[in-house]
Amino acid sequence: MPRFFVVIGMKISLIAAMSQNRAIGLRGRLPWPHLPADWENFFEVTKNCRMIMGRKSYDTPDRLWSEVGNFVITRQADFPLDAGFERAFSLEEALACCQADDEVFVIGGEEIFRQALPLAHSIHLTLVNGTFEGDAFFPEFDENAFKITSKQDFVADLRHPYAFSLLVYERASS
Ligand SMILES: NC(=O)c1ccc[n+]([C@@H]2O[C@H](COP(=O)([O-])OP(=O)(O)OC[C@H]3O[C@@H](n4cnc5c(N)ncnc54)[C@H](OP(=O)(O)O)[C@@H]3O)[C@@H](O)[C@H]2O)c1
Repeated sequence: MPRFFVVIGMKISLIAAMSQNRAIGLRGRLPWPHLPADWENFFEVTKNCRMIMGRKSYDTPDRLWSEVGNFVITRQADFPLDAGFERAFSLEEALACCQADDEVFVIGGEEIFRQALPLAHSIHLTLVNGTFEGDAFFPEFDENAFKITSKQDFVADLRHPYAFSLLVYERASS
């Protein structure tokens, strides 16, 4: 079985949106209505970076992707992928493929966030001000290992039915 090693230098960032009860998904969709400013932030932050996602997140109607390249983590050798997406059989394999990049974004879902959190240098976390039913959740992580370097608060308005905050965590030692 091939072994892959994470290479020093590349920044590994996670980007996620969760509710106050840590829900990130419900039946393959976001648990809350569309929040345009959150999506705008997602595309601004991830611009020009490759993305890594789990097969279930790939296989959802709300699938997100990068113009510069995407890895889908799956154990299925025959799962069909659209153009612009490459298969990886583990998170480590996907990261190894991106080792020459300055930064790569892990974009979910729960299973992949759980595996990537110990490796993350930064976390871009949207905190939606509400409690929602979910079947996928952002894992608890050691917040003491990170410092919050940016926090922007958005109030609810006509375009945004819920208030939310955009938080950036940077690993304290990185
Ligand atoms: N709010 C957010 O920020 C956000 C972001 C992304 C996704 N989501 C939501 O999260 C939910 C999906 O999350 P999820 O946890 O169910 O699924 P997921 O993490 O997207 O994907 C899980 C799949 O990844 C593959 N996988 C996981 N670990 C692997 C490993 N070590 N080696 C090889 N393959 C591996 C497996 O695919 P195979 O079964 O094909 O082998 C597994 O079924 C959806 O509701 C989605 O909408 C929310």
